[in-house]
Amino acid sequence: HHPIVFPNRVHFPKTSRRLPQALIIGIRKCGTRALLEMLYLHPRIQKAAGEIHFFDRDENYNRGLEWYRKKMPHSFRGQITIEKSPSYFVMPETPERVRAMNATIKLLLIVREPVTRAISDYTQLRSHAATAALPQPSVVSKSFEELAVLPNGTVNESYRPLAISMYHLHLHRWLEVFPREQLLIVNGDQLIDDPLSQLKRIESFLGIEHRIGSHNFYFNETKGFYCLRNDTVDKCLRETKGRKHPRVDPLVISKLRKFFAEHNQKFYELIGEDLGWPE
Ligand code: A3P
Repeated sequence: HHPIVFPNRVHFPKTSRRLPQALIIGIRKCGTRALLEMLYLHPRIQKAAGEIHFFDRDENYNRGLEWYRKKMPHSFRGQITIEKSPSYFVMPETPERVRAMNATIKLLLIVREPVTRAISDYTQLRSHAATAALPQPSVVSKSFEELAVLPNGTVNESYRPLAISMYHLHLHRWLEVFPREQLLIVNGDQLIDDPLSQLKRIESFLGIEHRIGSHNFYFNETKGFYCLRNDTVDKCLRETKGRKHPRVDPLVISKLRKFFAEHNQKFYELIGEDLGWPE
């Protein structure tokens, strides 16, 4: 036997599974999937598949960091691993657990105008209820208006899609644990209309070169959203992303917008920026 000699042997740099250096912590229905897939167009980004729910579910958290690390993709040194689980944002135990793993981790929070987000949430819950093994007729048949406004005409603050849209109630817990500079607020409404405006900010925030450009996007008229492409990817998001929303009574919309005005103000104060959502 003669050994096989490769005179110009190619050295592939070693990859390994690393804990995330950045997290998309939420908010559900604000474009968390679109954001992760768009960032993955960047050669320096690796993403975890699916939502790991490590920090928000005790049964996962109790498995320990090695379990979490093994859920991460292979990456080269110098690449950034990102995971997204939108429920991190609303679960009270999450911020402290994230800090215990990495106190300097970068946090991305994507937000949308809160009434639109609530309607998107309603649309998804209704669609899930309709296809569940045990259909939930009450969820399927009730209109958004019935769920969001009580019979006496006041806003149903305990309706979950509205409670999640009161962003300041959840964000304050994160800012008690992390300095403001470690958190980037991504505008989800702008991510739909002009993804590059947001992606450029994120590249700067993550400290990676500006590599995502207009060549990475094309507008799909049928879908009504931008689709993504690079050398290895060419895709639109699935049909569950970009659902058609039901028509909502304009009087209910304006009631909700008024209701959210003070909540939005508190959110702007927390983040130190006015996002200009309609009142
Ligand atoms: P709708 O389905 O209500 O329109 P999440 O991934 O956090 O669940 O967010 C889903 C939302 O992402 C969608 O809500 C959609 O508006 C938004 N989105 C942003 N960019 C998108 C894109 N390029 N393709 C599809 N959906 C996109």
